[in-house]
Order: sequence, then C-alpha cells, then structure tokens
Amino acid sequence: MKNIILIGFMGCGKTSVGGKLSRAFDWRFLDTDQLLEEEFGCTISEFFDREGEEEFRCRETQLLKRLCSEPEEMIVSTGGGMPLRTENAALLKQLGTVFYLKASEEATIARLAGDTTRPLLAGDGREDKIRRLLGERAPKYAAASDYIIETDGKSFYEIIHEVEKVMRRKKAEP
Ligand code: S3P
Repeated sequence: MKNIILIGFMGCGKTSVGGKLSRAFDWRFLDTDQLLEEEFGCTISEFFDREGEEEFRCRETQLLKRLCSEPEEMIVSTGGGMPLRTENAALLKQLGTVFYLKASEEATIARLAGDTTRPLLAGDGREDKIRRLLGERAPKYAAASDYIIETDGKSFYEIIHEVEKVMRRKKAEP
C-alpha cells in the first residue's frame, strides 16, 4: 500500500519525523500511541497499570488491522513495541513502506533521560532497561523494516530527505 510507516525504539523520533513527513508529502499523519490513547480514554501508562502489557499488545494488533483498510497516503508512526509480534511485522509491511529510524544506545539514553511517559522504563535502572530492550529489539526492527535510516547526528531535514529519496525511487520503479 502507498503509505509510509515509521518504526523504532522509544525516543527515536518517530512522532516528530512523522509530523514533518506528513507536511512534506501532504499525507495524513497517524500516530498509533495517540490513536490508542484516544480509544482507551487514558494514557498508555494508565492502560498498562489497569489492563497489562499483553492487552495493550492485542489492541495494537487490532488497530493495525483497521489501518490496513483505511484510504492510502498516510504517514503512520508506531509505538516502539509494535513490530515485535510476528503478526504485526507482517501487517506493517502490508500497510506500507516500513522505515526503521535507528538511533544508537547513547543517543537513545540521552533522549529518554527524564521521561515519565513510558511504562516499560518506569522505576530504577532505566539505562540498563534501555540497553537490554534495545539489544533484544534491534534485530527485530531491522527484520521488520524495508529501509533503515541511521538518525544519529542527522537533522530532521536530512532524515526526511532520505525518506523522500526512497519513495521517489520506488515511484519510478516499473
Ligand atoms: C512501547 C513504546 C511506546 C508505547 C508503549 C510501549 C514499547 O511508544 O507504545 O509505552 O514497547 O517500546 P513510543 O515508541 O512512541 O515511545
């Protein structure tokens, strides 16, 4: 489908890049965390406390299935755990061209310093949690993506330019 999907670890810039891409392409912007919060009527942290992570993951999958029947030309930024289920990874590829916004461990730790909105990082030992989760997930993000964009040291403009280049090339393909 003709959509752009952004995946990657928490704090890698999916939402910010997605908003800017939406303006550059003049396509609709959807953020799965935001859509789920609207659906839940509470924050993701509150939902995790009330219903647990497994229920959150089921709701992510249901949302992805619904997005597959939406009109095309969307920029979709996804929650950091979205591509981890095999079923979701397949749905994401069906939904559009998947870009993994890849940030180093150092950049990720710096970006997430002081964050209080991510339930998986709550409590002590945040850096260790980030290192462990990133180590486990990085290969899965890579496998779930069509293209990897290294984001360290790049401006939003450079990242968006890379996405545009890929999409132009794909458009020109027979
Ligand atoms: C999660 C990432 C969050 C949100 C939830 C779980 C994860 O989204 O979906 O807290 O498992 O990595 P962001 O990547 O937008 O922070």
